[in-house]
Amino acid sequence: MSVVTVRVPAKVNVQLAVGAARPDGFHDLANVFLAVGLHDEVTVTPADALRVTCEGPEAAQVPLDRGNLAARAAIALAERYGRTPDVHLHIAKDIPVAGGMAGGSADGAGALLACDALWGTGASREELLEICAELGSDVPFSLVGGAALGVGRGEQLTALEVGGIFHWVFAMAGRGLSTPAVFREFDRLAEGLDIPEPVASRELLDALAKGDPDALAAAVSNDLQPAALSLFPELADTLAAGETAGALTGLVSGSGPTTAFLARDAAAAERIAEALRASGTCRSVRTASGPAPGATVVSAP
Ligand code: C5P
Repeated sequence: MSVVTVRVPAKVNVQLAVGAARPDGFHDLANVFLAVGLHDEVTVTPADALRVTCEGPEAAQVPLDRGNLAARAAIALAERYGRTPDVHLHIAKDIPVAGGMAGGSADGAGALLACDALWGTGASREELLEICAELGSDVPFSLVGGAALGVGRGEQLTALEVGGIFHWVFAMAGRGLSTPAVFREFDRLAEGLDIPEPVASRELLDALAKGDPDALAAAVSNDLQPAALSLFPELADTLAAGETAGALTGLVSGSGPTTAFLARDAAAAERIAEALRASGTCRSVRTASGPAPGATVVSAP
């Protein structure tokens, strides 16, 4: 009996520039991802049939059917290599569910890498990235980690240089937000407006390359934030609480509703986290730094 465990990071989008809706319903993006040190672990073991289980404080909210990205990843790899996806996938979940931190995508990338190792498939990095892109727009980034610019749907990645460690505080909200619903709200708010082509900000890329938190704070942006706030107005209170507590900046992470606060250093992050916990404007608070490595096999046969 063999077992493989893969550890996969969460992400925060330090820039999310969103273009107009495309004919296929997706949006062209300039999406600057930074992987941060909150992780899910996906463990895969041989089984009679495909099965998904999940543990963790939010496990009850994770669908365990074949729609789960981890299950879809196992099925996609098995189909490609002409075998049956007869595995038990166990997810130890620490990334917020439906939080805008790519928790589902992390599980997809993790399951893919774990099944590849368990089955000895030997798929190339390119093949794995191709399957990731089929599974979802954010899944390729979960595989590679670090920092990257994603264009197209966000799945076409270019690795970015990062010159230091950035310290973050994440405030988890009392409920989730659906990514498609946030994009629909973006379209509604954009009706009649001229939406420019999404482009990565030079200032932001320079700030990342220098590892300069003040410059990064001045350059972060999220075009989905007005849509997330429109669907979840209370997030404005969380953003205000984090900024009052001394964050260099606060923003909605991806499609939300997790809010992300950049701190000058680790000690400042702990102080901001304490203040956010006391503010009563969020469900829970975590600190994490980035960049973090992408999906990594941590135990193998
Ligand atoms: O690619 P993924 O399955 O993660 O996307 C989830 C949903 O988010 C899509 O169905 C779409 O509604 C929206 N989306 C989008 N444009 C993107 C990425 C996602 O409209 N570039």
